[in-house]
Amino acid sequence: MREKLESMRELAESEIKLAKTGEELRQLQVKYLGKKGELTAILRGMGGLPPHERPVVGELANRIRDNLATLIDGKERELKEEARRRLFAENKVDVTLPGRPVVLGHLHPLTVVMEEIADIFLGLGFNIAEGPEVETDYYNFEALNMPKEHPAREMQDSFYIRPDILLRTHTSPVQARVMEKTAPQVPVRIIAPGKVYRRDDDATHSPMFHQVEGLVIDREISLSDLKGTLLLFTQQMFGPEQQVRLRPSFFPFTEPSAEVDMSCVICRGSGCRVCKESGWIEILGAGMVHPNVLSMSGYDPEDYRGYAFGMGVERIAMLKYGIDDLRLFFANDIRMLRQFC
Ligand code: DAH
Repeated sequence: MREKLESMRELAESEIKLAKTGEELRQLQVKYLGKKGELTAILRGMGGLPPHERPVVGELANRIRDNLATLIDGKERELKEEARRRLFAENKVDVTLPGRPVVLGHLHPLTVVMEEIADIFLGLGFNIAEGPEVETDYYNFEALNMPKEHPAREMQDSFYIRPDILLRTHTSPVQARVMEKTAPQVPVRIIAPGKVYRRDDDATHSPMFHQVEGLVIDREISLSDLKGTLLLFTQQMFGPEQQVRLRPSFFPFTEPSAEVDMSCVICRGSGCRVCKESGWIEILGAGMVHPNVLSMSGYDPEDYRGYAFGMGVERIAMLKYGIDDLRLFFANDIRMLRQFC
């Protein structure tokens, strides 16, 4: 059997050396090393050997297989190199052709918009804070003045992990986490960008979406600071002619609370379908931090006050890019994503 293997090896080696094309090489590979090849056929006879010879022959067969495979690889490279040289010699390679373009990836449009939002607030002296996406009931609701059974909880249909742990429904819990850490130092000036989760799914809602929270605490802070900051933000994001207005609203963690509108980005205020002829588009919720929220997190409401706001990143991105279906952000269609880099 050993002789059989050796003579097969010799023959295979000389045939490989003589091969002229890649196709010939592939045929030789099948002929000698393939499943139905000669090596396999010889090894079938192993059963007839005395047991002590089997490992020796097995080892020899493996070595031959490895050597032949290496030989075939080497020969293949040699043939390719030869072909390339031949093309060059015949002047068939046009070295002046432009190179093949390298396809580079890019950031997701939502990441781009989030970074843009962050840049604007960093420029206004804010820092970036983060909190966990898996949040406790305490920070997500309780510390924001929404005790158990508070009706406002109903507006945020939530994904619960355990009765006291859930996927955060907004970035507002970061407010309480930051205040707890810094109290009673001022000023606090942070934004908290991140993912949030709600049981919602349609053209303008996704179960996972992004928010940017803002929080400022100081001794002298008023609603006009809030309005001025948001005006600057919208003008930098959407253009210098933007205006903002505050409409009275309700959030348990702010008092007073407001919905903030900016002039419609489509018609610039004259009235169109997108703004329902009002000239205004709602972009975020905001207000003065509720005294209960301040005191729960360590700031005496007699001495300190603050404002807070929370905006939806998808909504800002949709308005900025004129996208009318939020699901497009998450459908992973490269034709759509490529348009916004
Ligand atoms: N957390 C609110 C929501 O997701 C948005 C919000 C409203 C955040 C008012 C605030 C605020 O900080 O002051 O619906």
